[in-house]
Amino acid sequence: MLENQLLHSSHQPVLLTEVLTALQIQPDGSYLDCTYGRGGHSRAILSQLGNNGKLIAFDQDPEAIENAQQLQQLDSRFTIIHSSFDQLKAQCQQQNIFNKINGILLDLGVSSPQLDNADRGFSFMKDGPLDMRMNPQIGESVAQWLAKAKVAQITEILKIYGEERYAKRLANAIVAARTETPLLTTKQLANIIATAHPAWEKDKHPATRSFQALRIFINQELQQLQTTLPQAIETLAPLGRLAVISFHSLEDRIVKRFMRDQAKGTHFPPNLPIPAAMMKPNLSIVGKPIYPSDQEIRANPRARSAVLRIAEKCE
Ligand SMILES: C[S@@+](CC[C@H](N)C(=O)[O-])C[C@H]1O[C@@H](n2cnc3c(N)ncnc32)[C@H](O)[C@@H]1O
Repeated sequence: MLENQLLHSSHQPVLLTEVLTALQIQPDGSYLDCTYGRGGHSRAILSQLGNNGKLIAFDQDPEAIENAQQLQQLDSRFTIIHSSFDQLKAQCQQQNIFNKINGILLDLGVSSPQLDNADRGFSFMKDGPLDMRMNPQIGESVAQWLAKAKVAQITEILKIYGEERYAKRLANAIVAARTETPLLTTKQLANIIATAHPAWEKDKHPATRSFQALRIFINQELQQLQTTLPQAIETLAPLGRLAVISFHSLEDRIVKRFMRDQAKGTHFPPNLPIPAAMMKPNLSIVGKPIYPSDQEIRANPRARSAVLRIAEKCE
């Protein structure tokens, strides 16, 4: 019964077969799923592990943790940790598995249950409290931040994280509106943006970019990714695999540059007598980026912007 509920979770894992192939699961290996969500990837990894295999998962969302705790009770090979994945190194050191992990998965961004539950405040399609925190137990909500942010700060966030051309105009509209009534709900914000936006893009709600920007900012998504990638390499055993699924160009750029730089090795001025071992790259890139098939996108439209990049830790 419980197992049934877990199996029918409301998030469809993206690029599932491709992720399993990328991680080259060894039955006795140890794996990390940094973004449990509803455990789609985690359960598939567990299904390929033998009795001595291990899977440790992270999520910062209390609802994801509740779901994972049910799985933990059913499967002794599985451990869930309620933490941001930027604590990866410290957590693995505590568990004595640092430098021993055979594969790490990051499936970035938000899950379908987070988007679909109006109470979480991620969606401009549904009315709910303007929150957008993946972990509502810490930090400020978008409503709290927008209540006091200056026009220049809002402009910067919409521009950088939403690549919104009309960032300043929208920021002015937000600040003008909040002097009339406090901004507390997703629909209020979506309507202000829709009214102020001068150039609606085809098939795209005018608040799409702004909501993306505020979500990335309030959860510090790009900073967390940037601090986690180097920790992931350290945590892997030699020849361990790193698989990262990104959903927008800002994330993917960070992953792509990181893998490329780590695959180049350290660069010293050409005339310095540096031993070859010190110049060794840390990673090798495995294959080309992988995109979902048309069939997967038809079955799960949320997969459409996904891209999977794979790298292997050098010996
Ligand atoms: C795209 S979903 C993952 C879905 C999952 N692979 C599945 O098949 O169900 C992303 C998940 O990562 C979590 N997440 C995002 N950033 C995180 C971070 N910095 N630390 C921990 N969890 C994070 C979110 O709360 C969300 O549950």
